[in-house]
Amino acid sequence: MNDNTQQLRKEYSQMPLLESEALASPFEQFELWFNQVLKSEIEEPYAMVLSTINNLTPSSRVVLLREFSKEGFGFFTNYNSAKGIQIVVNNHVALNFFWPGIERQIRVQGIAIKQTEEKSDAYFKTRSEISRVGDWTSLQSKELKNRAELEELFMLNTKYKLEPPLTRPDYWGGYIVKPTYFEFWQGRPNHMHDRLTYTLEENNLEWKIKRLAP
Ligand SMILES: Cc1cc2nc3c(=O)[nH]c(=O)nc-3n(C[C@H](O)[C@H](O)[C@H](O)COP(=O)(O)O)c2cc1C
Repeated sequence: MNDNTQQLRKEYSQMPLLESEALASPFEQFELWFNQVLKSEIEEPYAMVLSTINNLTPSSRVVLLREFSKEGFGFFTNYNSAKGIQIVVNNHVALNFFWPGIERQIRVQGIAIKQTEEKSDAYFKTRSEISRVGDWTSLQSKELKNRAELEELFMLNTKYKLEPPLTRPDYWGGYIVKPTYFEFWQGRPNHMHDRLTYTLEENNLEWKIKRLAP
C-alpha cells in the first residue's frame, strides 16, 4: 500500500458514520459519499457489483453506474445477456460499491426495472462510435467457439464502423435498480466499524435507520 492510500484510509477512518449525522434520506447519504469518492483518487468509483439470481444460484458481475437519482441506480447492458435473462425471471437484485482506500462499502437491495426507451435511446447516442458498434454486434454471454470467432465478428463489423449507427438495437438498454434497502459501512480503527442500514417502512415513504454490529 502506498503512502497516499494510507493517508486516505486514515482520513476516512476518522470520519465516523453516526446516527446523529447520517442523513434521513439514503439517497442523499449515497450522494454525499459518492461526491466524496469522486474527489478522492479511488479508481473506478462508478464500478458496482450487480448480483442477480439464476434459479437458486446467485450470480455477480461488475457494471458501471451511469445514472443516480431518487429513481434509483441506472446501468446499461445487453438485455439478452445472462443477467438480462435472470432479471426477467426474478428482478430482485443487489448492488455493492466497494471503495478501498477510503474504507467504505455501500450495499443496496432493490428491484431492477427496464429503463424507458427514450432514456436508453438518449444514452445510446452519447456512446462512442466504437461502443455503439460493439453494442450492435454484441453476443454478450453467448458461448464462442474460440477467440478467432470474436475476431471474425469484429471484422464483420466493418460496415458498422464505416457508418456507426445512432439508433439503439432493441436488445440493448438500461435498467434502473429501485432500492428497498441500503447499508453504509465505514471502516473505523480497532475493527469497530460503523454499519448503518436504511429499511423502507411499510408506508413505502420513510426510511428507518438501524445500526448493525460490524
Ligand atoms: C470495470 C467493468 C465495468 C463493466 N461495465 C459493464 C456495464 O456497464 N455493462 C455491462 O453489461 N457489462 C459490464 N461489464 C462486464 C460485466 O462484468 C460482465 O462480464 C458482462 O456484463 C456479462 O455478464 P453476464 O453474462 O452475467 O450477463 C463490466 C466489467 C468490468 C470489469
